[in-house]
Amino acid sequence: MKLKEIVFNAESKKSAANYQKMLKWLDSPKRYKYNNPSNLVEKAGILKGQKVLEIGCGSGFFTAEIAKVTGNLGEVIATDIHPLAVKETAQKVEALKIEHVTVACEDAHSTSFADDSFDVIVLYGVVPSPVISLRQLSVELSRILKPNGICAIWTAVPFWRPVEMLKQGRFTQMKRQYPVFKLQKINHEER
Ligand SMILES: C[S@@+](CC[C@H](N)C(=O)[O-])C[C@H]1O[C@@H](n2cnc3c(N)ncnc32)[C@H](O)[C@@H]1O
Repeated sequence: MKLKEIVFNAESKKSAANYQKMLKWLDSPKRYKYNNPSNLVEKAGILKGQKVLEIGCGSGFFTAEIAKVTGNLGEVIATDIHPLAVKETAQKVEALKIEHVTVACEDAHSTSFADDSFDVIVLYGVVPSPVISLRQLSVELSRILKPNGICAIWTAVPFWRPVEMLKQGRFTQMKRQYPVFKLQKINHEER
């Protein structure tokens, strides 16, 4: 069995229990101090009214902040590969009565979204990961971003750089809003 199948096996009670523990940890009150969601989301440079895709929403730690920035003229689609994350984020969004957020189960390597769909993609706390291929991710994210769309990446892993994503020639690196990396999609005609 591949690592991805073990980690995301929603049928296995043991992996579901471990995953639930991770969700609890991701949403612990202490984390709000050292990964302040409002500061980190601000650095993605999202504008009011934009259409934003959040990948790997987990417990929904960043989702409400993203929704606050787009405002209700915008739209947020929060996604995760794991049904427990989708359930938890959906409950949070419902409890907060945020109507412009949709939560969906999607594998970021191959999503159901149309080409050129999003202004911004938020990839916070998701990479690097042994279950994610940055090469595949870069192809898919550039496909679903609008021309000049932005992929904002934040990781807690020190010294990580989006080298693999830049290598594919689909993104150019913008000025870093420390600690957030911002990659801009290179338009097809400019490639
Ligand atoms: C460490 S958690 C971070 C969650 C959230 N972004 C946060 O920082 O609180 C990483 C999340 O990415 C999700 N994930 C991993 N691989 C994924 C994939 N291929 N597609 C979508 N989500 C994925 C996991 O299920 C998990 O919820």
